Amino acid sequence: MPTDTFTWKNKITALLQTQYPIIQAPMFGVATPQMVAAAGEIGVLGTLPLGDLPASKCIELIRATKQLTDRPFAVNVFLNPLPERTAELKKQYTRTKKYLEDFAKQVDLEVKLADYEQVVYTDYRDQVDAIIAEGCKIVSFTFGVFDEATIAKMKQHNIILIGTCTAVAEARVLEQKGIDLICVQGIEAGGHQGTFLTETLPEIGGLSLLAQVKDAVKTPLIYAGGLYNASTIVAIKALGAQGFAIGSLLMGSEESNLAEFEKEALRQAKESDLVLTKSFSGRYARGLSNTFTNQLDHSDYILPYPFQNKLTIGLRIAAKTNKNPEFSSLWTGQSRGPYSGASIKVILSQLIQEVETYKP
Ligand SMILES: Cc1cc2nc3c(=O)[nH]c(=O)nc-3n(C[C@H](O)[C@H](O)[C@H](O)COP(=O)(O)O)c2cc1C
Repeated sequence: MPTDTFTWKNKITALLQTQYPIIQAPMFGVATPQMVAAAGEIGVLGTLPLGDLPASKCIELIRATKQLTDRPFAVNVFLNPLPERTAELKKQYTRTKKYLEDFAKQVDLEVKLADYEQVVYTDYRDQVDAIIAEGCKIVSFTFGVFDEATIAKMKQHNIILIGTCTAVAEARVLEQKGIDLICVQGIEAGGHQGTFLTETLPEIGGLSLLAQVKDAVKTPLIYAGGLYNASTIVAIKALGAQGFAIGSLLMGSEESNLAEFEKEALRQAKESDLVLTKSFSGRYARGLSNTFTNQLDHSDYILPYPFQNKLTIGLRIAAKTNKNPEFSSLWTGQSRGPYSGASIKVILSQLIQEVETYKP
């Protein structure tokens, strides 16, 4: 594609009111209010990840972000189904907790894991009320889709909705529910896969998925998974995406919440260290394999999401405190860049310039 024909302005920039159709991808645990604000400063859409945080914490983070920027930004929430609390689940939880405590002891990691009764859920409706009250205008989501009443409520407040799909069938559901933009997440992506129609992962590569979703729906598409340089962006544009979500490329940045030892572990890792693992959360996520993933993925000590996720929080905190990457969840995608420690303003401005001067 001749470079002088690369245009950034499109339906997505018009809708999101940004200079570029580039999205700093939601990255729970990594993306900070500082990262979101920095993205806005260079005309990119920042995304504040709220995961399944309680409404009070969502408000705190939204306000902290608003203190730093006047630019539009998105917030992102998790819509996973909540498993029924049964006697069997409690038994499995207690058994897995004991197993993890023993495992941590063997490696001299002092952990404080939550008891079953301490595991609390956040209802996304409470998060949505907080998001509306705080005046947020762009909401992205993963692991599911909002119920119709919640969609109607957000639309009454002129909120733009961005849903995540990992299969063509999921894209169709999002379009049918009137979601404004669809983020197509290839299997290359770092972090959790947003799959919501099936228990098993579709595992569809970005090229196959994006082309087929483009054929199946009319909703404008954002693509996420493996974007790290000019050629990946140009290729994805040719396949029909109008928006580009960038995750892993920003993980080493100045605004990333990762500790220095975690950034260093990412920089040192080899391609063969990448794995799709359920070990930390009970849902598939892409990241680095380590002692923890190797042992757990070959065990029957994996609870359904979000129980595994809540149970391993204490372990991940201990790993961070002890600077132990063997028990940290180090999510990253298949396109692994240098994990530059520069500001995301520098990383993304260089990327934009590279695209604008790209010669195939
Ligand atoms: C550390 C990390 C955390 C993530 N957390 C979220 C999240 O909170 N919500 C979400 O929708 N996606 C999340 N993702 C997925 C990203 O938004 C995005 O799909 C992915 O990073 C794109 O692939 P790439 O990493 O190859 O750029 C996360 C990804 C990473 C690497």
